[in-house]
Amino acid sequence: MTIHRIDVHLPEREYPVLIGHGVSQQIGQWLPTTARRAIVVTQKEIPVSLDLPIESKVVTIAQGEKAKSLSTIENLCQEFAEMGITRNDVIIGVGGGMVTDIAGFAASTWHRGTPVVHVASSLLAMVDAAIGGKTGVNLPQGKNLVGAFWQPSAVICDLDLLSTLPARELRCGFGEVAKYHFLTGDDLLSLDLDERVARCVGIKAAFVEQDEHESGKRAFLNYGHTLAHALETVGNHQLAHGEAVAIGLIFAARLAQALGRISLDRVDYHELVVGKTYSLQTRMPEDINIDQLLAAMARDKKALHGLTFVLDSPQGLEVVADVPADIVRAELVRFSQA
Ligand SMILES: NC(=O)c1ccc[n+]([C@@H]2O[C@H](COP(=O)([O-])OP(=O)(O)OC[C@H]3O[C@@H](n4cnc5c(N)ncnc54)[C@H](O)[C@@H]3O)[C@@H](O)[C@H]2O)c1
Repeated sequence: MTIHRIDVHLPEREYPVLIGHGVSQQIGQWLPTTARRAIVVTQKEIPVSLDLPIESKVVTIAQGEKAKSLSTIENLCQEFAEMGITRNDVIIGVGGGMVTDIAGFAASTWHRGTPVVHVASSLLAMVDAAIGGKTGVNLPQGKNLVGAFWQPSAVICDLDLLSTLPARELRCGFGEVAKYHFLTGDDLLSLDLDERVARCVGIKAAFVEQDEHESGKRAFLNYGHTLAHALETVGNHQLAHGEAVAIGLIFAARLAQALGRISLDRVDYHELVVGKTYSLQTRMPEDINIDQLLAAMARDKKALHGLTFVLDSPQGLEVVADVPADIVRAELVRFSQA
């Protein structure tokens, strides 16, 4: 059994990401040595049972982005209080990106910071959400508006768990995998799925190591996300995150081309990777309100100076602030009619 281990090296600490079939069975070795109790945060649809060497309790949270909320955090914290979880214990998030974002955020605030270990059970969580310490919840006004940086003590990506993942959720994971094709020049298509997951983890780890708190290059990991987050919010989460990212990647390429930054060939390459390789939807849902999208994009956390996008260029990705709203609007209209 091949187990890939990728260490995320940060200024004050480092932690391992383990990728392999059946690797969640080894979780006992990756718990903090101080932990006497564990709370496992998961969802009832996720068929994972862990063999933990310490006292533990499983708490389930509801599915869906509406439950990625402050009230879910409050409920969890009450569970922590009832079990007497201390800063020496551990919270274990077992699930997709929603669970790892919530478990991580609850851990960041419980007793001002309690260790968290993630067992990523969706492709999207394995290649992206569970790694790097970005945690948070949504507000009705937008995605992930309340959150904290809180690095896990370890991340476990058990590839066996993908066998129960619904097909739509697997496709969503490919939305984030597609993004990695544009972050580096790596030929991800030459790798089988296991190796590709490990390579995506390696790319994410490298970006996080360079810029833990997203003051620079880590923002490139948000490629495609400016429109994606707006589509999720305005569309009332009809589109799942990975589906929205796929559309956001195509829009970012079209916008970059409209701004004269890249050629049409490069836009076609985006269509090839997102639409053909990963069979993802590459067009906006019908009847989406463009004014609402623009307003949502203006509230994006990256939008410190006007509308802000990560955009492609001959030198690679760049964060571009103050993109003129009239150009964005015109391109959105064209895209919605494409
Ligand atoms: N923190 C970050 O850096 C980061 C990065 C990307 C995305 N995210 C967040 O991640 C979330 C999306 O993550 P997601 O796509 O994993 O969605 P998700 O967590 O909502 O999971 C999708 C569905 O799959 C189910 N599921 C998960 N694993 C399963 C398994 N092994 N078997 C059967 N069912 C399973 C879940 O119960 C859920 O119903 C969004 O909230 C997004 O904002 C965070």
